[in-house]
Amino acid sequence: MQLSNIIAPIYDLWWAIAVAFIPTLMQVLQQPSLLLHPSNLSDAFFAHAWVVFGPGSDEGGREVKRSLLPQAKGVVLDLGAGHGVSCTYFQPGAVTKYVAVEPNVEMHAKIRETARAHGFEGRLGNLVVLGCGAGDVGLINSALGGEQSVDTIISVLTFCCVPEPQQAIRELCDRVLKPGGQFLFYEHVLSRRKDVAKWQTLWTPIWSLVFNGCLLNRPTDRWITGLDVWDESLSEVSGKPGQSEENIFWQQVGSMVKKSS
Ligand SMILES: C[S@@+](CC[C@H](N)C(=O)[O-])C[C@H]1O[C@@H](n2cnc3c(N)ncnc32)[C@H](O)[C@@H]1O
Repeated sequence: MQLSNIIAPIYDLWWAIAVAFIPTLMQVLQQPSLLLHPSNLSDAFFAHAWVVFGPGSDEGGREVKRSLLPQAKGVVLDLGAGHGVSCTYFQPGAVTKYVAVEPNVEMHAKIRETARAHGFEGRLGNLVVLGCGAGDVGLINSALGGEQSVDTIISVLTFCCVPEPQQAIRELCDRVLKPGGQFLFYEHVLSRRKDVAKWQTLWTPIWSLVFNGCLLNRPTDRWITGLDVWDESLSEVSGKPGQSEENIFWQQVGSMVKKSS
């Protein structure tokens, strides 16, 4: 592997600390109780970092998102919605309800702002923002009024930080997604190459500390595609066009369609 690929995470780690440390410190001074709740502190740090990283991440994934996310239709569940940027890629009129799942409540105001600019608002009945996690399937179903009521699940760079991801994926596909519904994912995943995978695993402890629990070495793509619920003839998975195999943040893109019965 080239040295530049091995040390690539250093740049992002440095940038995250540079942009988020002072704003997080100011927030702690205003709200010292944050120090007693490490996960809230991590959420606050990530929210400050994402103000800078979010637009960069969106820009870097634009080509993929332009081919993947306009496929969304009907009731759309966006897992780990961040600032809600996925809704900016929807085809006008194709999505009847945008349901953003985002446990970091520091992001909710921005989700609502982005969604409103694209025609989704609580008062119109076509926007729901949930503060639970992707694995809280009971809460998601009760907010949506029943099981298997989602036409499209979206997961963009999210399953890297979901606890018990395999169980969450299984339950979302079985209990939340409608028969015939689609699961659109764009995730950074465990590399197939042993040398890259080794570096992903070595970087993961420090990376996850700074980036709110994000793990670089999860085979999320295989967890999703390995389920027996998909109509293979309609589903497809590919790499990110032009991405080097040596990339530590190696990504896979999938458009999976659930069997109709
Ligand atoms: C790297 S960001 C991606 C945000 C957004 N999908 C995008 O592409 O801009 C990952 C997001 O997942 C959220 N997240 C963390 N734990 C989660 C969980 N258990 N369930 C759902 N989302 C989670 C984080 O708060 C964060 O907003």
